[in-house]
Amino acid sequence: MSATSISYFQADVPLADCTTFHVPAQTRFFAEFDSIERLTELLQLADQQKIVRRMILGGGSNVLFTRNFDGLILRNRIGGIEVVGQDQDSIFVKVGAGENWHSFVEYCIKQNWAGVENLSLIPGSVGAAPIQNIGAYGVEVCQIIHSLQALDRRDHTLRTFAADECEFGYRDSIFKRGSRERYVIINVTFRLHRQPCFNISYAPLRQELERMNPDKLSLQVVAQAVINIRSSKLPDPRQIGNAGSFFKNPILPTNQWAELKLSHPNIPSYPASAGQTKVAAGWLIEQAGWKGWRHGDAGCYPKQALVLVNYGQARGQEILDLATQIIASVRAKFGITLEPEVNII
Ligand code: EPU
Repeated sequence: MSATSISYFQADVPLADCTTFHVPAQTRFFAEFDSIERLTELLQLADQQKIVRRMILGGGSNVLFTRNFDGLILRNRIGGIEVVGQDQDSIFVKVGAGENWHSFVEYCIKQNWAGVENLSLIPGSVGAAPIQNIGAYGVEVCQIIHSLQALDRRDHTLRTFAADECEFGYRDSIFKRGSRERYVIINVTFRLHRQPCFNISYAPLRQELERMNPDKLSLQVVAQAVINIRSSKLPDPRQIGNAGSFFKNPILPTNQWAELKLSHPNIPSYPASAGQTKVAAGWLIEQAGWKGWRHGDAGCYPKQALVLVNYGQARGQEILDLATQIIASVRAKFGITLEPEVNII
């Protein structure tokens, strides 16, 4: 490798502080980019140096490293929040993919722009949000995405995707499937509302709001209720390593769900698309006896069984071993195969 490229890429960089799981691993090469020009330059350099494996990292809140990465990790630091249009009902805001998600939510609430308040306190970056269509408390980010821009790694051109071209689904988009290796998300344009249209259909959110008993509902109040619930159930990744829900809630054909409901009448479930029902993976894992389980520093969180945690020194492989055991035991008990939501490297 030449002297110039060494100054572009850092070598043998530890990754423990780059992910919210905080598991030890290192990457052969590492660099950050804060513009499309810089990203293009880094990709060209990686081509010249024949570094084949590349990975884009945002906030590192949805990834588990189980081994060292023999390639180049590029961290997206593209910032900026810019109003790019408005009409009677909406504000269109273009946000750099490297912005922190929760800081963006706080910014919107300060401006009185509605639509993101239910998605408060989700760890990660703005650019990662569309990839897995983050969602919480009755809202998915696809409901407020207008469009996004992504760099095509094949020819380094910038492409705009309208929301309906992203093929959003439950914790899913084209950027999580076939196009995962192809595009780097550069910015996302959100359509936010001037007038709030509160979504408090999610029962625990309604209950928390009743407990708070505010004089009137506002974006701040809803965001605070969401923050209260998340803080009471989910571990703070700055204190206990984790990546939120480790598995997706499985979606079953309704006849399979109906059969399950006969033997397990309390199974929490939600309607999905026609002929399908989503069931709570946290409940399945708890019923299989894993809630609060700990071996060494790898564990299943005692307040939310869907969250696997690193209490300090766990390695990624130990977390993965635990996930594998959980999958096998839930399959044996319920005939359901859980799928990880987290990207396992
Ligand atoms: N449950 C249990 N035991 C547990 C955990 C949950 O019985 O240990 C039951 C609860 O009692 C409830 C049901 O399962 O009846 C659902 O639990 P919860 O409301 O906590 O939500 P979830 O389905 O486990 C999903 C998202 C979360 C999101 C919450 C709130 C997924 C994979 N996870 O969790 O998203 O915050 O709903 O909307 O869809 C994330 O993706 O990282 C994440 C945290």
